[in-house]
Amino acid sequence: MKTITELFDFKGKVIIISGAAGAIGSEASRFLSSLGANVVLSDLNEEKVMKLASDIQSETGYETLGMKTDFTEETQIESLIKATVDKFGKISGVVNNVGWGANTPLWGSDSQKMIDAYKLNTLGAYNLTRFSMPYLKKEDNASVVFSGSMVGNTPSPEFIEYSTAKAGLLNMVRSMAVASGPEVRFNSLIIGTVDNGASSEEAGYTQEMIDNVVKGIVMKRRGVPEDIAYAMAFLLSDAASWITGVELTVNGGGVYKTKMPTS
Ligand SMILES: NC(=O)c1ccc[n+]([C@@H]2O[C@H](COP(=O)([O-])OP(=O)(O)OC[C@H]3O[C@@H](n4cnc5c(N)ncnc54)[C@H](O)[C@@H]3O)[C@@H](O)[C@H]2O)c1
Repeated sequence: MKTITELFDFKGKVIIISGAAGAIGSEASRFLSSLGANVVLSDLNEEKVMKLASDIQSETGYETLGMKTDFTEETQIESLIKATVDKFGKISGVVNNVGWGANTPLWGSDSQKMIDAYKLNTLGAYNLTRFSMPYLKKEDNASVVFSGSMVGNTPSPEFIEYSTAKAGLLNMVRSMAVASGPEVRFNSLIIGTVDNGASSEEAGYTQEMIDNVVKGIVMKRRGVPEDIAYAMAFLLSDAASWITGVELTVNGGGVYKTKMPTS
């Protein structure tokens, strides 16, 4: 039996993280690097991602790579793979974390908005994974983790573009898992509401809406990015080597409402 240190030893592993300059992506990058991984941070926000890659390398001493990548552009994803392999010679794991969704009413969307949400939340993850596969297949316990959302497995008419795209993501991951065992593992996180600073407001949440949600959450708080980073590291680690095709829900217990009449 392995020790906990051996199970979570990521030394010599190369892990690509998309959306790495954001709240969850940056904590996942930092935590995986602290465990010894060579992390490849990719994000549309060039300034932020380059600074973060260099800060993390200084903090942990493990070499990183930062790269501006637009995950809606297939050629940029190919360039990211090439840069990763040129620098580190392999890919051991991927965190498909990029994603975003605006608050849109069910009948207030249009074709282009539906397509744009799909390209960012689903297609980008498909392409990053597809181009990583030849390298992942060569590695022991290769693992790919996806940032899913509660909106993708519950009715979410307020976020019709985003929730439809995230629902597609979940089923895509299940298909990848059954087609790729035993070579590569694929798992999704179903992420509950996590404090990501300004992004929540941009997505249409007001403080009042957030306070209301928190009241109902079993753990009585929103998640912090570290809560998700730890779960990602678990699914990438040797501790999860027999786990594939699952959805791990990390949502503080969810929102509970009594089924009994209250008056
Ligand atoms: N925060 C939450 O409450 C929550 C809940 C459920 C699921 N999620 C999912 O978790 C993931 C991370 O969320 P977060 O809260 O850290 O988000 P965030 O907004 O903090 O970070 C998202 C990052 O993605 C980058 N990005 C946007 N478009 C891009 C593109 N085209 N190419 C490359 N990068 C791009 C942004 O620059 C940003 O750094 C997302 O997939 C999100 O849908 C988050």
